Amino acid sequence: MLTFIIGAIAVVLLLTHLYSAYAKHHRQYGDIPAVDGRLPIVGNIFDLSKTHIVLTDWYRKYGPVFRFNLYGEEVVVLSSYESVFEALVTRGSDFAGRPHMSRTDYEGRNRNSIVWQSYTPKLQFLRKQIHSSLRMYGNGLGRLQHRCGFELEQLLNRIESQPDLTFDPWSLLYDSACNIMLDLTIGTRFPYEGEDLSQLKKINGLFNHSFGPGASRILDRFPFLNCIRDEFKSLKTAVDMRNSFWADHIGNLQRPSTQDECVIQSLRDLAAKSSNSHFDISEATLKETFTNLILAGTDTTTTAITCLLLVLLHKPEIQDRMYQELDHVVGRSRAPSLSDRSSMPYTEACLFETLRLISHVPLAVPHATICDTTVLGKRIPKDTTVYINLWSLHHDPEVWPDPWEFDPGRFLDADGHLLPPHHECRRRLLVFGAGRRVCLGESLAKNRLFLFTTALLQRYDFRPASSLPDLDPRKFSLGIVLHPGHFNIKAIKRTNVDTTISGCGS
Ligand code: HEM
Repeated sequence: MLTFIIGAIAVVLLLTHLYSAYAKHHRQYGDIPAVDGRLPIVGNIFDLSKTHIVLTDWYRKYGPVFRFNLYGEEVVVLSSYESVFEALVTRGSDFAGRPHMSRTDYEGRNRNSIVWQSYTPKLQFLRKQIHSSLRMYGNGLGRLQHRCGFELEQLLNRIESQPDLTFDPWSLLYDSACNIMLDLTIGTRFPYEGEDLSQLKKINGLFNHSFGPGASRILDRFPFLNCIRDEFKSLKTAVDMRNSFWADHIGNLQRPSTQDECVIQSLRDLAAKSSNSHFDISEATLKETFTNLILAGTDTTTTAITCLLLVLLHKPEIQDRMYQELDHVVGRSRAPSLSDRSSMPYTEACLFETLRLISHVPLAVPHATICDTTVLGKRIPKDTTVYINLWSLHHDPEVWPDPWEFDPGRFLDADGHLLPPHHECRRRLLVFGAGRRVCLGESLAKNRLFLFTTALLQRYDFRPASSLPDLDPRKFSLGIVLHPGHFNIKAIKRTNVDTTISGCGS
């Protein structure tokens, strides 16, 4: 009898709790359509490894602003260009926060990180400083070109040393892109043969595993599950490995002998100034900033170049046309340089189309509202997690006919010129996000994509050396970045090419 009474009380308490949660959500989010079929505690269950695809299906059913429930939390999803533009640009800071997550709270990361910190004065200060140290303008571009040139020369030598000129592009490109990020952040690079680059690759994989959208959000809602969830083990191992890496290589790193400014050293200098003491830029801030830049700056760019190579293998006619443009504009006796970009519209259009088709970061990084606000006239309360569905924006058939087809012609006019930046198609391409939290590496990424792709194409004709993954990004796997499966590529040397890559731009 006593068991029955306790059981009945428990059921009543649970029902009351569920009802009051429902009433509260209804009161706060009443303007926003809710996805049907939510269950107590877990909310809307779906295949979390396909979050971007499920959210896009829901967009068609519930409209551009809807909400779903993830382990008891209301998550608002913005899926049309109008809603995303209003939130990120027109309403500026309202949507510039990041949700509170126990995963980013771990070791105080969210107080020191750029990616995971909410929209605080410290974050704004860090963004401004990093933007200026990356210097993607004026002679900063020459410096980038020089850095890329050296690394590209090493990459081409490495390709030459692969048996039968056959290799897994992601793996080789990762090391080169990572070395450029290391050079920009700490003024050093690591040899390809050593353990250091593979350590960084492992750390990247572990962070990705713990931050995939959806699945691992359970850790933030129910932190008591940490001890049994693999994602938390990955996070802990990643942070431990990163800390040892920092202690071994970077903690006491001296300013490089060149005059080149490096992000971490300049932040360290700023931290030493008493006028900046209120921002609390500590060693933990430097460590987090380093991790953010290396991870965000390597995986995305490597995957984008790999995907473009995958396009070229699937569509040799596009490879031929890009090569013809390159041969016409640059020729074979000098290396391509950033100043060639404006004379190579077809190549630029192929880069834009790769970024659109794949939409490498399909749900951006989760945003959060920092005040009560609205979007498309619907009220959204403060501290709401907001997903920005870039995937649906870039595959909307109304804007992009045959959205799953690779068609660089979308970005070209009838005379083959690149559409101007204010053209509808260019404006609606938001692969780097927009507004206060727009990607800090947008220019860097576009410049590196151009330099890598043209240097590779100038030297080689590429053919498949294994079965290829499908070019349809709906089949790629999702972490924060969308990855195709691994594949091998065979490089066939072009004739009469005589260039010294490292000399370019200097
Ligand atoms: C193809 C390459 C890249 C793509 C597609 C990409 C895309 C993105 C996207 C969609 C975001 C989230 C924006 C938001 O939250 O609304 C982001 C954030 C970020 N990206 Fe990139 N990115 C790329 C390359 C890079 C590079 C090379 C760097 C290196 C500097 C970088 C550094 C960052 C940082 C630090 C953030 C966080 C900004 C913040 O939270 O305030 N990214 N990126």
